[in-house]
Amino acid sequence: MSDGLGTDMQGEGPTSLFSRSGPCGRRSIAPYCERVRSTVTAPRFEHIQRVAELAESIARANRFDERELRATCLAAVLHDVARDLPSDRMFTLAPPDCDLERTNPLSLHGRAGRSIARAWGVTDERVLDAIEGHVFGVRYGDRVGMAVYVADISEPGRGVNADIREQAMHDLTRAYRRAVEAKVRYLRRCGKDVHPRTLKVHDEISHAT
Ligand SMILES: [Fe+2]
Ligand SMILES: [Fe+2]
Repeated sequence: MSDGLGTDMQGEGPTSLFSRSGPCGRRSIAPYCERVRSTVTAPRFEHIQRVAELAESIARANRFDERELRATCLAAVLHDVARDLPSDRMFTLAPPDCDLERTNPLSLHGRAGRSIARAWGVTDERVLDAIEGHVFGVRYGDRVGMAVYVADISEPGRGVNADIREQAMHDLTRAYRRAVEAKVRYLRRCGKDVHPRTLKVHDEISHAT
């Protein structure tokens, strides 16, 4: 199952695997959807489909070219592939680097997801960066990563961040900035430790023009 972004973009269209439209209806992405669906819980897969559909809408609204669009759809489909794995599996796929990660295995699910995607044949670094970065943040200006990050925190099923979702349709960079700020605010409000990488991204964003 290659993620070659050239030849398999031909003939994209509905497949028999999924009746609904959106990224899982793309012939080259549908097999990944099947594998993800067999790896996560049913509610998680519903979330993943909503994120993928929103990420595709954000990408189209921001005039991504076809390669960026497909990378965005694939990353969105794969972003939470590791989210429901048990801790021991998470630690194997993504050995922790700090105490926060050791005591909070869920914080590793982006990096573990990257590892799974790579094992499934994904080689596009934009896709892999977006999967890993949906947890701690992506490089400011990485359009694929920003689209997935924003779609993840603002998909309609969450019931929050509708304003960020709306803004992403015409100003993705500003929406991403607000999304990171909203996540940091949320973590602090809950009394949770904020990962150093999230703080680094937050700091970069607050200094960006
Ligand atoms: Fe996630
Ligand atoms: Fe997610």
